Amino acid sequence: MNVMVTGGCGFIGSNLVKWLRKNRPSWKVVNYDKLTYAGNLENFKELENDPNHVFVKGDIGNRELVDHVIRSHKIDAIMHLAAESHVDRSILGPEAFIVTNVLGTNVLLEAARHAKLNRFLMVSTDEVYGSLGPTGFFTETTPLDPSSPYSSSKASADLITLAYEHTFGLDVVVTRCSNNYGPFQFPEKLIPLMVVNALHDRPLPVYGDGTNVRDWLHVDDHCSALVTALEKGKKGGVYNIGGNSERQNIQIVKAILGLVGKPESLIKHVTDRLGHDKRYAIDATKMKTELGWAPSHVFEKALAETVKWYVDNRPWWERVMSGEYKKYFDTQYSARLS
Ligand code: NAD
Ligand code: DAU
Repeated sequence: MNVMVTGGCGFIGSNLVKWLRKNRPSWKVVNYDKLTYAGNLENFKELENDPNHVFVKGDIGNRELVDHVIRSHKIDAIMHLAAESHVDRSILGPEAFIVTNVLGTNVLLEAARHAKLNRFLMVSTDEVYGSLGPTGFFTETTPLDPSSPYSSSKASADLITLAYEHTFGLDVVVTRCSNNYGPFQFPEKLIPLMVVNALHDRPLPVYGDGTNVRDWLHVDDHCSALVTALEKGKKGGVYNIGGNSERQNIQIVKAILGLVGKPESLIKHVTDRLGHDKRYAIDATKMKTELGWAPSHVFEKALAETVKWYVDNRPWWERVMSGEYKKYFDTQYSARLS
């Protein structure tokens, strides 16, 4: 099996590539990534001499290069994670989200269709459903009602992917997962940002009153779910993925402060995110009953391990925050590519 993972240098992508090399050792993984600010090759030091992990620097919008990679590596399936992924950035500048998440996904779908790939896994998000009130869960039949430029670009890509199955018969599977946490997450997202700020004794910026709810899933559980959906999902199927771990943001922030031994006086309530979704909660029954998947991490324990990872791996996030990590590609590849 030769699988192309787009966005393989991001948070979930890099965890997925390592998960695949460990748990599907006979597979060749072609990691196709543009290396935007969120892509970090330093996440792969342990795979540097692994012949079954091939990195290709490229934009998903580059059809010629995508075609070439599919042909030259005899790709069987695409796991599509590449995206602009941060809601706040999409509010500051929506265009990149439309270009990569909508148009880029369409380029990949066209390439997959013409190459007659066996499967195209679209990694969508629970944010396509919009916001919930205090009760209820998103199921796969909940109408799509995205709120932000990010979530509407993901909803577009999600629906275009399903249209390729309906119209052209391309074998696609769509997954919609809740908030992930774990190692190697860019420190712009809630959990790593709060850990880093707490370690620096800087204020922890909580949007609004902090009562917005997210449903947290450890990234390794997301990886196992994605591979399960790739291997066992029904053609044209949509699968919700979640961990039944709803928490208010303020609970998460207080837990992090407790774990690093810093005072709650560091919490600073700041102006709310525009159009801030109130609550997400996933019903993942279909993944469990139809595909036999279940998460294995327990939130409190895995959050503590995650916080410890950031405490122990300070050089990783210091290099991310200083921009040093961007030099890694040149050091590592410029000689090889010339
Ligand atoms: P991330 O921002 O950490 O990583 C995105 C990766 O995509 C980066 O390596 C980046 O360089 C790459 N990329 C961006 N634009 C590209 C382009 N035009 N061509 C090629 N590569 C490009 O994102 P993440 O948090 O790892 O999320 C991965 C995927 O999972 C996204 O599609 C996201 O919508 C989805 N998702 C994320 C979560 C979450 O909680 N993080 C939850 C559900 C779904
Ligand atoms: O639900 C899945 C989605 O989860 C993914 O599709 C997105 O790619 C991913 O970024 C994430 O989106 P969120 O907007 O939920 O994640 P974020 O970490 O940005 O914010 C989580 C919550 O914390 C949200 O309610 C906003 C709040 N927040 C966030 C930041 C960065 C704060 O209160 N302060 C902050 O500084």
